[in-house]
Amino acid sequence: MNTTRRSFIKSSAAAVLGFPAFVRAANLNSTLQVAVVGCSGQGLSDLMQIGSHPKVKFTGFCDVDTARFGGVDAKFPGVAHFQDFREMFSLLGDKFDALQVSTPDHMHAFISLDAMRLGKHVYCQKPLTHTVWEARQMRLQAAKSKVITQMGNQIHSDSTYRTGVKLLRDGVIGKIKEVHSWQGNHGNGNTRLTALPPSGPVPESLNWDAWLGVAALRDFAPDAYHPFKWRDWQEFGGGTMGDFACHIFDPVFTALELTAPLTIHAENEGLNSQTWPFAETISYLFPGTAFTAGKTIPVIWYDGGRKPDISLAQMPADKVLPSAGSLFIGEGGVLILPHYAMPQLYPQEKFEAFNKVAGANHYHAWVDAVIEGKQTTDSFEYAGPLTEAVQLGNVATRTPGVTLQWDAATMRIPNQPEAERLLTKQYREGWKIAAVE
Ligand SMILES: NC(=O)c1ccc[n+]([C@@H]2O[C@H](COP(=O)([O-])OP(=O)(O)OC[C@H]3O[C@@H](n4cnc5c(N)ncnc54)[C@H](O)[C@@H]3O)[C@@H](O)[C@H]2O)c1
Repeated sequence: MNTTRRSFIKSSAAAVLGFPAFVRAANLNSTLQVAVVGCSGQGLSDLMQIGSHPKVKFTGFCDVDTARFGGVDAKFPGVAHFQDFREMFSLLGDKFDALQVSTPDHMHAFISLDAMRLGKHVYCQKPLTHTVWEARQMRLQAAKSKVITQMGNQIHSDSTYRTGVKLLRDGVIGKIKEVHSWQGNHGNGNTRLTALPPSGPVPESLNWDAWLGVAALRDFAPDAYHPFKWRDWQEFGGGTMGDFACHIFDPVFTALELTAPLTIHAENEGLNSQTWPFAETISYLFPGTAFTAGKTIPVIWYDGGRKPDISLAQMPADKVLPSAGSLFIGEGGVLILPHYAMPQLYPQEKFEAFNKVAGANHYHAWVDAVIEGKQTTDSFEYAGPLTEAVQLGNVATRTPGVTLQWDAATMRIPNQPEAERLLTKQYREGWKIAAVE
């Protein structure tokens, strides 16, 4: 453990004893003090939404790349800058109640868990975590710290997804027999990798060591990882599945009240030891619920241009499947929920027009929940198990052709114990995550 980290943990412990944020939350009168980690890209978009809430005051902006503060400074000038979130936590102390985490996926859990241990409320981007084990830790720590949390899959609160969820729960197409979900992307340019990218000088503005964080040291390579292109790399992102399944599976989980899958099986094309596949199909079997026709329900994920057979949709010949979304096959019809647009019901002649459910501002819902001391509908209690299922898909994709049995209670894969190492990852010395007890 390096000195910064040791002194940080010391200061964290002091902050927990002195200022548990959920106590402060009960007394929040005029402002909610929010700090941000990851200030450009999606982070900028997130903080503009969070900052548009009249009760939010930003107290700290952290980015490992100091060249990336331009956007936030233009919108919210005068907020303190930090390049290391641990320093920000330590120096701000009780001057932040809540944290927005919008870094690449490999750092979500490390940063959010530290914040929650301090009693800070957390808005964390999707996928909630990089691994199955981390998703479990996030759920446990949020419950232990009694903090208000939300995952950044903002379409959860959108009118389109809410309308789809209501139609399904109202039984408009009857009980559901199977679900097919897809996203057309082939990743972001680094799938089908044949050689590691050539290393190059680290930009002066970037703390590359802090960007790597929990990950093993590797050379910086221009235009390969930072910004945005980290997604395809197993060490940093989750490929197309990691990028989109926390969005696209969200209404499937909410509508059908899915829990942990029983089995997962993947087939893919173009997997290598560094980057995620070019295309894949991941088949889950979940226990049935009050909304499913059978005792179990198959849910199948496709990406990289793969899609379900269009004949399943019972659509007119002139219609095509959307580029991304879900197809619910019910006992009395089919519902297609595009990502993201209003649901479609087939066969068309069987269904009348439906009422839309109003949407809400996902970001403000979290701020309001913190202020009011209520939990959100997309808290880590919900988003943790959803992310576990998504990342189990990525475990299966790294063991293609094998059906994995999943025991969620013990976090074991009894029929393929050698695959269990993929439930977690190697953490760099000084960046290890302690299990929540
Ligand atoms: N909800 C959505 O619709 C949506 C859309 C895009 C991205 N995302 C998610 O947002 C997150 C960020 O994605 P992006 O496309 O903006 O990535 P990006 O690489 O473009 O931007 C990440 C930002 O965080 C900074 N950063 C990286 N590591 C950091 C660290 N350890 N501490 C502080 N700052 C750090 C980078 O310098 C950069 O400014 C990802 O988890 C991604 O999945 C969500």
